[in-house]
Amino acid sequence: MRDLSRNWRGRGLRVGLVPTMGNLHAGHLTLVESLAGAVDRLVVSIFVNPLQFGAGEDYESYPRTLEADRRALSAYPVDALFAPGAQEMYPHGEPVTVIDLPALTGTLCGAARPGHFAGVALVVAKLFHIVEPDEAAFGAKDYQQLQVVRRLTADLDLPVEVVAVPTVREPDGLAMSSRNHYLTPAERETAPALYETLRGVARELRAGRREYAALEREAAALLQEHGFDEVDYVAVRRPGDLAPPAGGEPRLVCLAAARLGAARLIDNLEVDLNP
Ligand code: PAF
Repeated sequence: MRDLSRNWRGRGLRVGLVPTMGNLHAGHLTLVESLAGAVDRLVVSIFVNPLQFGAGEDYESYPRTLEADRRALSAYPVDALFAPGAQEMYPHGEPVTVIDLPALTGTLCGAARPGHFAGVALVVAKLFHIVEPDEAAFGAKDYQQLQVVRRLTADLDLPVEVVAVPTVREPDGLAMSSRNHYLTPAERETAPALYETLRGVARELRAGRREYAALEREAAALLQEHGFDEVDYVAVRRPGDLAPPAGGEPRLVCLAAARLGAARLIDNLEVDLNP
């Protein structure tokens, strides 16, 4: 993979990377589309990264659909599909190197999933070193992941432009996610309430409400009323560093994670307060 990419770059071609865990849906394909026009050669990676799954999470059952993914990508200008196995990515066994960004990962999904973002940070750093892309695209649905990747790239001077791509939604507002496959038909009916609830919080913020803790509590209660089994968090935060608002921010982000049956769904919505 590195030889191929270096060969391209040596010829002055710009290389793009879309890192994924496969089971590609329209959200992933939007990542591909968003880079396709900006680079000369496009690499999609598919790797279900064991390091970012915690004990009791869905590593074993995570949908692996390589042939369908290959077919889906054939409609796009993809120059290389990099789909290594775990042995190839981690030939020395579990890495002893840890990339930790505690200021960004001690909260929200990082608090609920210890070690998850260290696993993401390590594999993204490895993929950047293997593929050596000029640009790499990440979905805004995984908002905390996006901030982790941006900060990691900046702090380690990785010469990669991180491109954020807006969340792709089903017609009823549900953010596209491979984990939506875990929903039963009844749960699928309930699932759009996650985004609706975030939109409600955003409306309140735009209307001038600033009691963040009360807003978060009300929204969590609403999700439970809708039938979500367990609400990990509903939070209003600052966009870049994910810290609680200090007051006067022009822009905030509302984030939520909640369990619905076997699926843990996440979503977020940025809110402009000075339109
Ligand atoms: O967002 C994902 O699919 C994964 O977390 C990523 C960025 C491919 C790293 O494994």
